[in-house]
Parts: sequence; structure tokens; C-alpha cells
Amino acid sequence: MEKIKIFDTTLRDGEQSPGASLNGKEKLEIARQLVALGVDVIEAGFPAASPGDFLAVKEIASTVKGAIICGLARCKKEDIDIAYKAVKHSARPRIHVFLATSKIHMRYKLRKAEDEIIKLAVWGVKYAKGKVSDVEFSPEDASRTDRRFLYRVIEAVIDAGATTVNIPDTVGYAVPFEFGDLIGSIKANVPNIKKAVISVHCHNDLGLGVSNSLEAVKNGAGQVECTINGLGERAGNASLEEIVMALDTRRDLFGKTTSIDKKEIYKTSRLVSKLTGILVQPNKAIVGKNAFSHEAGIHQDGMLKMRTTYEIMKSEDVGFGKTRLVLGKHSGSHAFKERLKSLGFHLNEKELNRAFDIFKKLADKKKEIYDEDLETIVEDELRTIPELYKLESLSFTSGTNVTPRAEVVINVKKKRIRKTSTGDGPVDACYKAIDKVTSVKPKLIDYSIRAVTGGKDALGEVTVRLKVAAKEVSGRGSSTDIVEASAKAYIDAVNKAAYKNRK
Ligand code: KIV
Ligand code: ZN
Repeated sequence: MEKIKIFDTTLRDGEQSPGASLNGKEKLEIARQLVALGVDVIEAGFPAASPGDFLAVKEIASTVKGAIICGLARCKKEDIDIAYKAVKHSARPRIHVFLATSKIHMRYKLRKAEDEIIKLAVWGVKYAKGKVSDVEFSPEDASRTDRRFLYRVIEAVIDAGATTVNIPDTVGYAVPFEFGDLIGSIKANVPNIKKAVISVHCHNDLGLGVSNSLEAVKNGAGQVECTINGLGERAGNASLEEIVMALDTRRDLFGKTTSIDKKEIYKTSRLVSKLTGILVQPNKAIVGKNAFSHEAGIHQDGMLKMRTTYEIMKSEDVGFGKTRLVLGKHSGSHAFKERLKSLGFHLNEKELNRAFDIFKKLADKKKEIYDEDLETIVEDELRTIPELYKLESLSFTSGTNVTPRAEVVINVKKKRIRKTSTGDGPVDACYKAIDKVTSVKPKLIDYSIRAVTGGKDALGEVTVRLKVAAKEVSGRGSSTDIVEASAKAYIDAVNKAAYKNRK
């Protein structure tokens, strides 16, 4: 099977995402993970863009082994010199030179005629070729470039020594059949095309980055440029995980493979999200938190009978862990009972039916029901979790130019304990006061608040997730006073943790 090369540009185009800026250490960490993932080429940055970019590319080239390390450069001597200085430390360096070829870019941005563009492109490739043997050339905005001119440019840069010719859909304008046809026509009309690998680089402005890349592969592209989580300029680039999994899942159609270790996909996505601070949308294909969750009762029932009824990929294959059946109001009794069984509960039919009724009521209030909630339903309603800590009263002061302070009175084994604390805000002060009573110091990993109904007098419902001694627990509380709701949610989670612990 032919191998499609995966060129990852998360650290270059991906880092151009609004809000995604990475420091050198973070880039290095991502580059190491990209090697573990098995990408063929890492575009580590644009060394001429800033001294920080130069240093990051240099550091990656010097220390990261196992992939080609590439630096981007305009067709300018300074750019190519600095790109070379950065990538030369790699055992396999590549310089990627680019120059716009569409009429609109040539006229308004570069103010150059076609012949000048060809001359400059050839010069850039030859100059880079004098430094490294692996040179890639991109005619920027290729998808909006006059085809006859594009063939001429490609032929000339291959003659000048380019070993990869990348066809960017710079502004995400192309549609799949058109882009596939463009790649096919390049193969048919550029006489020396066999001497270079055809690469594609698709932006996602119309949400077609992955589809365009796949269509290109079908028509002869041998390299795909992509990013983790689809990060990139504006609406981003084609997403690596989607391309790889599409090629893998539909090997029957494409008959192509990649060198990607699929089990590293989820880990890489999490790392990139964590370091860039750009969250992955829950319904994102392959790496979103819901990508392998099934909520509809019919789907859950089908899945439990035969996984492949509703699942085309296994979550474990991309390193996601086991499929998480999120229970919610559409879940049927079959899924609910199976989940309880897997949590280790052995209930008789009557108990199960009662627990299911309570679950349905809860699901009306709460969209996602986690394992702790199920445990709570069973333990609370059928066995009753003892409330080790019970909030008796709470008072706090807060305001502009006032240090927030809270006092809590908590009943612990029939003893009333009063504690006070200051904090960054009233909720923080309150949580610190509670910590003084319980003496467990949980880590707050998630806090959310919502109005249960509309209007100013709405109930505020707070949900927290705490990490207590390596275990995650959730808690919920509601009140028309949001600080009180926050305190109740926190104590609820601490009680669950204490109960789990004693169990
Ligand atoms: O989108 C684009 O055209 C680019 C080039 C530099 C390849 O990122
Ligand atoms: Zn791009």
C-alpha cells in the first residue's frame, strides 16, 4: 500500500491561530509528541518571523530526532539564510519556500508580473537547494492561480531542484471535486511532475479542508499538510486526526496508509489543547469529548448488542480509553442497568426499576449523568449516603475595595464547627473556610454555574468537579444565592469523596 506522508504544521500554521501562542519549551514538548505520533515532517516554525521562532526551530532541529524538521521561508535571501541556520542542526533538514502565484496576490501584494514570479521562485528554490537537498516549494494561493501559469511555475521549480511541490488552498476557497481535479490536472500537465512529491495544504474557511485533502489523495497527492485539532490561520487547517482516521477507516476506498501511531492521537490532541489553551469543541470528530459517546437510547441498546451497529472506529484505537456511555434523558433502561452493573452494583429488579425512575427525574434536570451521579442515585436513594458534612449556615462580605471574607458553620457528627477565611472572592473565601473544617484539601478542577430558570430570581445551580486523593468527584448545589449554591456543591462533592473513601 502506498504511504501518504503526514506533514504536520501545528507549530507553524497552527500557531498562527488567533490566541495560540506557544513558547519555545512548549513547542519542543509538542515536537517530541509529534515524533511519538509518527509524523513524517514537522514544520517547526517560520524562523525569519521572530527571534523566538528562530530559536524554537533551532532547538527542535537540534534535539528532536525521528522526523524531517522543516522551516518556512519567503523567496528572500535573509529568510532562506535564517531558515537554514535554524534547521541545519537536524539530521534531516528541509527548507520550505513559498511565493504567491494567483493574479490577485501577484498584482496587489507582490506587484510582480508572471515572468518575474517564475524567476524569483526558481531563484528561491536554487538558493535553498544550495544549502539543503530537501526543498519544498509552495505557490501560495495555488487554488486561485491560473492553471496554465501554475503548471509553468511547478515545472520550473522542479527543474530548479524542488523535491516536494505543495499546492495550498490558502484561503479555503476550493471545493472537493474542483481541488481533486486540480491535482489530477497537475499530474497530467506538468511534464517533470514524477520527480517531485505532490503535497496539499488545505485551509478550512468553508469547512472543507479535510474533504479537499482526501480528494487530493485520491487524485495523486503523496503528502498532506495538516495540524492537530485543525488549528491554523482563521478557520484553521485540515485536521491531522481526521485525515489519518479517514484514510485508515476507509482503506477500502483509498488503499493508502500513513506512518501515524493512532494510539497517540488523543494524547497529542490533549497536549496541543492544553499548551495552546484552545479547547477542542465537544463534538469535534475523533478527539472531541463526545466523539465516541452515544446518548440516544436506541444507539446505546444497539451498541451493547453489537458495537459496530453505531461505531465505525474504536475509541481505544485513537488512545481515547474505552467508549464512555454518557447517560442522559434519552438513555434507555438497558444502558442504565448495564452501567450500574459495570460500576459493580448488583441490584434486584425492583431496586433497579426504582433507581431508573430516580435517574430519569435527575436526567430531566441534568444533561449528563456521570458515574458519581449514578452511584449517588443508588447510594443516596437506595442506601443513603451519610452526610458527613452538612452546611448549617454561611455568611460573607464582599465588594469593591473590600477583602472578601466568609464564615461557615458546618455540622460534623452532630458537632457545629465554625470557621472563617478570606479569599480572592466570596466563593474562594467560602471554599477555604470549608477546607478548614474538612481538612481535606481538594483540587477544584471544574466549576460551572447556570440559572435553572430565567429571570432575576432564578435558582443558581453550581456544579463542581473536585480531585480528592487522585479521585474525581462531582457535586451540585442550588440556591437563589450563588455563593450558597457554590458552598453546597463543594460540600456535596467532599461528602461523596469521604463516603467513597470510607467504603
Ligand atoms: O496557506 C498557505 O498558503 C501557507 C503557505 C505558506 C504554504 O501556509
Ligand atoms: Zn496555510
